Amino acid sequence: MMDIRKKTFDRLVEIVYETSGISLGPRKQALVCARVSKRMRVLGIGCFDEYLAYLEEHRGEVVGLLDAISTNVTSFFREPHHFDFIAEAAGLWYESGQRRFRFWSAASSTGEEPYSLAMVVKEALPFPDVDLRILATDISTEALAVCEDAAYDLGRMEPVPAALRDRWFSPVRGTAQSLWQAKPALRDAVVFRRMNLSTPPFPMTGPLDAIFCRNVMIYFDDVVRRRLLEECNRLLKPGGFLVVGHAESLAGMIADFKYVRPSIYRKA
Ligand SMILES: C[S@@+](CC[C@H](N)C(=O)[O-])C[C@H]1O[C@@H](n2cnc3c(N)ncnc32)[C@H](O)[C@@H]1O
Repeated sequence: MMDIRKKTFDRLVEIVYETSGISLGPRKQALVCARVSKRMRVLGIGCFDEYLAYLEEHRGEVVGLLDAISTNVTSFFREPHHFDFIAEAAGLWYESGQRRFRFWSAASSTGEEPYSLAMVVKEALPFPDVDLRILATDISTEALAVCEDAAYDLGRMEPVPAALRDRWFSPVRGTAQSLWQAKPALRDAVVFRRMNLSTPPFPMTGPLDAIFCRNVMIYFDDVVRRRLLEECNRLLKPGGFLVVGHAESLAGMIADFKYVRPSIYRKA
């Protein structure tokens, strides 16, 4: 592995924090270097100092840097109880007369989360008068491109029960790999935007029924987390739900929310 000078690493960490809110401690050095090296190979750059100089001069490269740095691990129906919970809540809201449903997958990565959400809500509310929109946002343009294409290989499709897969996806013919692509009825419910969660206020007005903000706050420090949670609170409707990853501790930061069950909070 190529060496990096401390000053160069510190400046890269600073730029990542300023542009994404992602905190990279010294323990992340090996990981960061491996990921940035990949990006450097694409650009034909041979050392970290040269990459930093390039980045300082071409600030648009920050998008490439963040694409390289971000961890996009996700899966369909990850933490399935979250989806069961929202399907049930949506059913109750429908029964009480609600017809317009707005959800936000705040760090949607490659799309498995917003499409899982779209499937469960559509299954729970198979009625023609339902107006459903799921906003999927992420900072990674590469992840968003996959999300928008909505085509997944067999491995990624594995958590999707066959009945749901056949209803909401169709096999893509003529590809070397076996791919399943979301049908228009599912894709049309999801809209995509590149958005940086560390720089609220966000352009949406709300009110939102639920926000999935899962497995992203782990990369932020408390300052960024607190700002983001305040913004989630502003955007949710009273009684709307904030769903976070089970590994995310929001202790001391969720005064505006009522605890419902582990990793699920309700706007008071
Ligand atoms: C581990 S994935 C989580 C995906 C999904 N929410 C889940 O739980 O399966 C984290 C995602 O957060 C995104 N991310 C990191 N920092 C971000 C920021 N400042 N603004 C928006 N998205 C960010 C990454 O690009 C990545 O796609």
